[in-house]
Formats: sequence, C-alpha cells, structure tokens
Amino acid sequence: MTSGPSSFYITTPIYYPSDVPHIGHGYTTVAVDTLARWHRQAGDDTWMLTGTDEHGQKMMRAAAANGATPQEWVDRLVGESWFPLLKTLDVANDDFIRTTQPRHEERVRAFVQAIYDRGYIYAGEFEALYCVGCEEFKTESEIVDGTGPFEGLKVCAIHSKPLELLQEKNYFFKLSEFQDKLLELYSGGDFIRPESARNEVVSFVKNGLKDLSISRSTFDWGIKVPWDESHVIYVWVDALLNYATAVGYGSDPEEFARRWPAYHVVGKDILRFHAVIWPAMLMAAGVDVPKGVFAHGWLLVGGEKMSKSKLTGIAPTEITDVFGSDAYRFYFLSAIAFGQDGSFSWEDLSARYQAELANGFGNLASRTTAMVERYFEGVVPPPAEYTEADVHIQTTVADAAARADAAIERFRIDEAISSVWTIVDALNLYITENEPWTLAKDDSQRERLGTVLYTAAEGLRALAVLLSPVMPESTEKLWIALGAAESIGRLQDQPIREAGGWGVLKPGTSVNGLAPLFPRVEQSV
Ligand code: MSP
Repeated sequence: MTSGPSSFYITTPIYYPSDVPHIGHGYTTVAVDTLARWHRQAGDDTWMLTGTDEHGQKMMRAAAANGATPQEWVDRLVGESWFPLLKTLDVANDDFIRTTQPRHEERVRAFVQAIYDRGYIYAGEFEALYCVGCEEFKTESEIVDGTGPFEGLKVCAIHSKPLELLQEKNYFFKLSEFQDKLLELYSGGDFIRPESARNEVVSFVKNGLKDLSISRSTFDWGIKVPWDESHVIYVWVDALLNYATAVGYGSDPEEFARRWPAYHVVGKDILRFHAVIWPAMLMAAGVDVPKGVFAHGWLLVGGEKMSKSKLTGIAPTEITDVFGSDAYRFYFLSAIAFGQDGSFSWEDLSARYQAELANGFGNLASRTTAMVERYFEGVVPPPAEYTEADVHIQTTVADAAARADAAIERFRIDEAISSVWTIVDALNLYITENEPWTLAKDDSQRERLGTVLYTAAEGLRALAVLLSPVMPESTEKLWIALGAAESIGRLQDQPIREAGGWGVLKPGTSVNGLAPLFPRVEQSV
C-alpha cells in the first residue's frame, strides 16, 4: 500500500478583535503562512488556519467603550480590519474561524460536555486576581507593583494594568491530574520548541499544576456551559478549541482524521495555554495531542513588547504602503531569529530593504534578465562547457535548497532564508567576477557568455522557487519574466524539495524585461 502525501496542519493563534491589528499580529501570521506555503509547495497535504477569538470580558469592555454590542463590535473589527489584514500581507490561509460561528460554538459545548462526562470537571469556590488584558488569573510571580497612575496597586507584569479581584463559584478542570502525563509528553523531544521555551514550560509544570477555573457567571458574552446555562465557558478554553472545531471535531470525523493533529505557532506570552492547558484538555477528552507547539519571540519597540494598549502599536499597512507586502514578510522573517525577541526600527527595515532586496536580490534579477535581452535577444542561451566557477554555483544552489528545507522542518524560517541568500550573494559575485559585459565585446567568448547567463538565469529560477513562500509577489513577477510560467508551469506548483536540481530552465525560453522588483523608496525615516 502506498501512503498519500503527509498531512501538515498549521495554525496561528486566533486574535482578539477588540482592537485593530498591529505588526506583532502580522508577524505570527506571515510566519505561519510561509511555513504553510513551503509545505504546500513540497506536496504535503497542507492546511493553514487562522481566525479571531471573539468572546470574553476584554471584548465586552471594548464594545461597551465604543457604544456597540459585543457582536456588533467584533463584526465591525473583523470585517474592517482583520480580514483585510490577510490581503495586506498576502496570506493564503485555507480557513478563517471566528469563535462566534455556530460551527464552533456547538462543538465547544460538545467537547466540554465530553470531559465533564468523563469526570474531569467539578464545581468549586474561587477567589483570585484576574488580568482582563491577558484574560487570565495571575499567580504571585506574574504580579508586580504598579507605577505612575497605578502606584500602590498590584498590576499584571505583561500589561502593567491593575488586576481585579474575582470571587465566584466556578467549574474547575482537573488540570492537576495531568502533571505526569504532560512531563512525559515534553520528555519525548520536540513537542515544545525552541529549547528555551521547552525548559520554561517543564520547570513550570514540575512546580505543580493547579486546577483551572473554566467557567464564569458574572457576565454572559461567551458560550454557555451545557449543563449549567448560568455560566459561560472560560474564553481560553473556548478559544483553544478552535483548532479542533475548525477541522471537524465532533462533526466531520473524516476531515478531522485527515487534518488532526496540528502544529501551533504562538507568541511566547501564550505558550503555557498551548503547551500545558491545551494538551491536558485533549488528553481528558481522549483526543490526540498536537504534533508540536513553536513559541516565537516578541517584536520590541524601544526595548518593550510592542502593543496597542501601551500605544507602541504600529499598523502593518504603515509598512506595506511604503515597502510592499513582500518586504514586510522578508524583513520580519529574516531579521529576527525565529524563537527570539527582535527589535523593530524603521532605520533597520529601510537599510535591509535597500541592501538585501533592492541591491541584492532585485538587482540580480534585473541585470540578469536585462543582459539576456540585450545579448541574446531575450532568449535563454544554452550553456556550453561548465567551469569550476559554474559548478560552484550549482553546488551552492543544491546545498542552499537542502539546508533551507531542513531549517523549515525545524521551523527556523530565518535560517532557511539565510541559506537561500547564499545563492543571491554567490550569483552577484559570480556576475561581477565573470563580467558578462566584457565577454559580450568579444565574439570568440560567445559560448562563455551564454554559459554565464544561463547559470545566472537558472540560479534565478531556483531562487524564485525557494523564495516564493516568503515573497510570493516578487517571485511571481520574476517567474513570469524568466518565461518559466509558460515553459515550466505555475510557480506555486514547483516542487520545493527539488528546487536545488540543475538544468530546469530550458535554453530557448523567452525572457521578458523586468521592472525593478524592489523600487527605490522615497521617504525619510
Ligand atoms: N486570543 C489570544 C490567543 C488565543 S489562541 C487559542 C491572544 N490574542 S492576541 O491577539 O492578543 O495575540 C495573538 C498573537 O499575537 C500572540 O501569539 C501574541 O504573542 C502575538 N503578539 C502580540 N503582540 C506581539 C508582539 N509585540 N510581538 C510578537 N507577537 C505579538 O493572545
């Protein structure tokens, strides 16, 4: 029996549409989109999910502050800001789930009922400090003394806003019963990545787990607890379940079996929900745990986690309107080691755009296609005998492609890009050293000129394939300019794990002129 393509289901967190998106949200989304595009292009049975987390107190308050009902508020924000974000960033998600959709609400009730029936939920009294920004009860280590207007108060270490004392009767999930099983899950290698994130979770769980309050009765913006409709389900339990409900948990067993389990990519601030609570919920229900959770770092602005609530939020369109969506994707994914924090600055973005995209990749593409036009009437010449320098390019391409694929397997998008960039640098150097413009002046060097330009064009073919998950727009333009769309087929259909092979672009292919892929940006930053 032959097995089908392997399933690759990957998710972003679902975002709170209490406010408009900022570049931190865009960062998570483009990272997941790039991983999904890579796997799709590798022939894996890929599914990318994103969406919005629409219940909870934070949403209720944002709506009230804007004179709207929660439903009106989320409908407006999702329609006007969150859907358009995907277009702004050129994201090819397969689905978008909203937690207010009936397909989600019904299945959340079924899931919670199932773990209740299995004996993992009980009623109890509760009193603790709650952060509405995080939608989370806080333990001592997560609480700090307030400063400025909040002097004398206890505030959330992440949001720097006062905590609220909540006292109510709640339903509890027996999270404490899962400590050993969770530790066993983490011991098996790479369930949590990177290593630093894994270590943090392991020591948190080793310190002991408390049962989790999973219902609220003081407000009603949420999904009703099936056996007690005076309570709504805790927003995080509701939200985490999106990953299962979106692919047919409880309604479409075939689809669920095809997709599940997922890989989750999340910011490090929400790692514990995904690496502790979520697998425990699934274990309680007898459902497979996720394949893995990858925690990325924060975008820092002025040394602090960028956030709307601290007024450091930057809208993704501020960047894409000036530099384009490919530059946004490339910049965040290449400049920050995936898994670590990274500082954002306009100067750094501008400098990298100019050096790496305009002068590096863009210039390589323009000058190669221009020389094929000028010296060979726009027809890719055949290579003659290869020299050592040509073979060096071929091995650079093969090595870069293999290393990039291995890096993507480890979710290290930044390393994949830097491997691919060895091709850009090698080809630019190759052209400088081989001086096609000098060869063109000497008729006896016609074959050599053909070999050099074939090598550059075929190198660009590999670059277009390898960079298309990161920069879908400019690589598509390059693909068309190389005549590859007609002679080879659609770019997104090119098998990425074979991109490192040589001789794919056929001599005789017609090349068209190419407008600068990354035009000069006229602005002062
Ligand atoms: N709704 C929850 C997630 C539920 S998933 C079942 C939530 N939403 S959020 O909108 O606040 O954040 C979503 C994602 O954006 C998180 O992964 C978070 O880390 C990320 N980011 C928010 N600010 C960020 C930065 N400044 N930098 C990088 N990522 C940031 O949490």
